[in-house]
Amino acid sequence: MAQRQTAATSARRRQLGFTRCLSTCASGTEVNVQRSATTLNASGGHDDLLADVRLRGPLSAELRMRLIGDPIPLPDLRSLAHSVAAAADSTLTDEDVQLSLWIMYELHYRGFSDVADRWEWHSDLVAATDELEVIFEQDLRALVAPKLPGPPVPPAEVPTALAELVRDDDSPSMSKHLARHGTHVQYAEFLAHRSIYHLKEADPHTWGIPRMIGAAKAGLMEIQSDEYGGGRPDWMHSALFATSMRGLGLDDSYGHYLNEVPAITLAWANTMTFFGLHRRLRGAIAGHLAALEMTSSVPNRRYGNGLRRLGFDVDTTRFFDEHVEADAVHEQIAAHDLAGQLAISEPRLVGDILFGAAAALATDGQMITELLSAWARGSSLLHSGAPAPPAGTARIGSVELVPSLPA
Ligand SMILES: [Fe+2]
Ligand SMILES: [Fe+2]
Repeated sequence: MAQRQTAATSARRRQLGFTRCLSTCASGTEVNVQRSATTLNASGGHDDLLADVRLRGPLSAELRMRLIGDPIPLPDLRSLAHSVAAAADSTLTDEDVQLSLWIMYELHYRGFSDVADRWEWHSDLVAATDELEVIFEQDLRALVAPKLPGPPVPPAEVPTALAELVRDDDSPSMSKHLARHGTHVQYAEFLAHRSIYHLKEADPHTWGIPRMIGAAKAGLMEIQSDEYGGGRPDWMHSALFATSMRGLGLDDSYGHYLNEVPAITLAWANTMTFFGLHRRLRGAIAGHLAALEMTSSVPNRRYGNGLRRLGFDVDTTRFFDEHVEADAVHEQIAAHDLAGQLAISEPRLVGDILFGAAAALATDGQMITELLSAWARGSSLLHSGAPAPPAGTARIGSVELVPSLPA
């Protein structure tokens, strides 16, 4: 413990001292800037202003226009939400649906500085959210139906069924690609996508805590305590992730890459918020977390090794290194103490536990598939693109990456 605190303290000092510059300073320069994940934004991105969000269709446009004003009745919002969702081939890949859900959900997290807090539970907004969620849930269930076991699973066999879902997942491996072949630019793009969730890591699953009792609740709390740093703010996994982003030359401001990522990235993150915010889906949020934990330890070892291959330092790899050991334990707690005990105490939730796990695997798999496909084409999934960098420098979206690090 003492050793860990010493490392954390020195890492924190480094974070608050010299930080490498982004696009606003001379090449190779280091500047003494005190950075905050919530207040600095080197390239003028999203920050926490809804007014800065790039619109993706009629519903997100309506939300941005209305929510910046005072709360007033919006009687037509529900029908607009329904028509937009119903017209989508799949809500998982519909830009307007996913951005609108992300905006609505964000009101339950940190909100926007230009949106009144009272919008969070505005009845017309809740009704419109429900219209999106009905079809979003249908699409999620259709996506994972072929993956789920046919016969009913006895509650005592839920940990085994979860392990089989993970074992049978045939999604491509991002960690194998990055460990062996990943470039600085690819790592940076990967973390830009992941930042949509990892800068609030663990928060979606925390909604499940008051909705469980007994052993399942204790298991979830044990995991979440580690995710939130066990009382040490600089060891919160979201903080470790922000440090890795900065190490890669990215902007770690909350939501900075919202305007860059596509619908599937938002769908991956929105899925967990959807599960977490609904008590009826407490089985799904437990299964979702179990799948995350059961697919974390080995891939994170690979991610860290790939960064070391590229020459990045221990501050940049710490997020991944921390998950190697932590999630080797978490996966057991999640499968047995959380999901397994929830199934035993509430057998009718077994189906949703497996649904949540399968949805976690499927949405992550779809995002990874699209990302690897884009890279294979020499392209990027980011809105602004990540053009091939000239020698010695690199850009990702609107951010110039650290020139002195290996590309
Ligand atoms: Fe974590
Ligand atoms: Fe974990």
